[in-house]
Amino acid sequence: MSTSTAPTPLESSASGPLSGTIRVPGDKSISHRALILGALSVGETRISGLLEGEDVLNTAKSMRALGAKVERTGAFAWIVKGVGVGGFAQPSETLDFGNSGTGCRLVMGAVAGCPISAVFEGDASLRSRPMRRILDPLALMGAKVTASAEGGKLPLTLQGASNPVPIEYRTPVASAQIKSAVLLAGLAAPGVTTVIEQEASRDHTELMLKHFGAAIVTTPEGTHGRRIALTGQPELAGAPVIVPADPSSAAFPLVAALIVDGSDLVLSDVMTNPLRTGLFTTLREMGASIEEDDVRGDAGEPMARLRVRASKLRGVVVPPERAPSMIDEYLVLAVAAAYAEGTTVMRGLHELRVKESDRLEATAAMLRVNGVKVEISGDDLIVEGRGHVPGGGLVATHMDHRIAMSALVMGLASDKPVTVDDTAFIATSFPDFIPLMRGAGADFA
Ligand code: S3P
Repeated sequence: MSTSTAPTPLESSASGPLSGTIRVPGDKSISHRALILGALSVGETRISGLLEGEDVLNTAKSMRALGAKVERTGAFAWIVKGVGVGGFAQPSETLDFGNSGTGCRLVMGAVAGCPISAVFEGDASLRSRPMRRILDPLALMGAKVTASAEGGKLPLTLQGASNPVPIEYRTPVASAQIKSAVLLAGLAAPGVTTVIEQEASRDHTELMLKHFGAAIVTTPEGTHGRRIALTGQPELAGAPVIVPADPSSAAFPLVAALIVDGSDLVLSDVMTNPLRTGLFTTLREMGASIEEDDVRGDAGEPMARLRVRASKLRGVVVPPERAPSMIDEYLVLAVAAAYAEGTTVMRGLHELRVKESDRLEATAAMLRVNGVKVEISGDDLIVEGRGHVPGGGLVATHMDHRIAMSALVMGLASDKPVTVDDTAFIATSFPDFIPLMRGAGADFA
């Protein structure tokens, strides 16, 4: 992501009904993992529907720098020829992940299991994000940080372990990034690496490891948690991956269709892994009309076609244990909450503070500047819905793609237009957002 170019603002205005059928891009989490596991496998991995957003392209570049062959063979079609578990080569260039916490943290895990040293870098947003949560368990496995910015942040140099040690690790927060980093490092370790999480986080790494031939067993732990045990040093075999549409990207047109009167919009191939669908559950509790059909699955990942119709929404309380299954969706849920009648309370959002921006503060600011009453109370976000949004505000995006898209969605039904200061970061996860939304009827100017 280039931060040196001039910002590109955009105004979003009240629109006519949104309609038609759209397919949002491939899932970002699965796209990163397909490239990384393809690179750690023997043989060929053919990926279709890869998200060609900047975050994922940076992961592809890093896999090349680490010795894998990664080729684009057509639109969203890629082939990875891997080096096998533990086979990464010493990179001669810095691994620059731009805006992407997921790419950076997962690759740290993969590098930690190899006897190589790599420099990890990112943009100003990524440089400000915590890395100790990843580096601490990787250190227990034998990896070392040999240089870093203050607080163990980027840019940093990671020396992978020559003899990685399998560990049993209890994650301090529900984070698929921490879990995945440990499992990816554990691939190269002899014996069983175990991750225990108190709240289950997205399980794409586990599902894909199984798809590529690893022995990995998941059992319940407590009320909402899981214990994941991976047997190290498997021979991963390249396997085809079909990437379903990203539910976190689908969230934007979906909420837009709910709040714009008369809308009737179809979203195809949306991944419906239950560890990602907390937003759909919440919106349905608010009164949203979201119907599912054409339910299918591939490699353990379910998907469906969603038909969304404009709906009268009411405020709800979102319990904290739902957070891991909708962690990236609170911004756009807050927009839906502003258009609902009544108060919506979203509990347990501490992790939002360490995303691409401080999303708790940024969401409150986005709403406030557009005339919506909102309050942060500890880790909770409380939005007072009045059935309409005054709008007229300029929203600061803070290098955060999801703030930009949420604010643009908000403007599609507000009394006055909503402006975002910069749309550039939308390219990290949803490069076609603006034309796709315009095609469905959005008035962006
Ligand atoms: C992701 C995990 C989540 C999420 C991110 C993608 C992943 O982060 O916010 O956008 O692909 O593993 P945490 O696991 O740190 O909550």
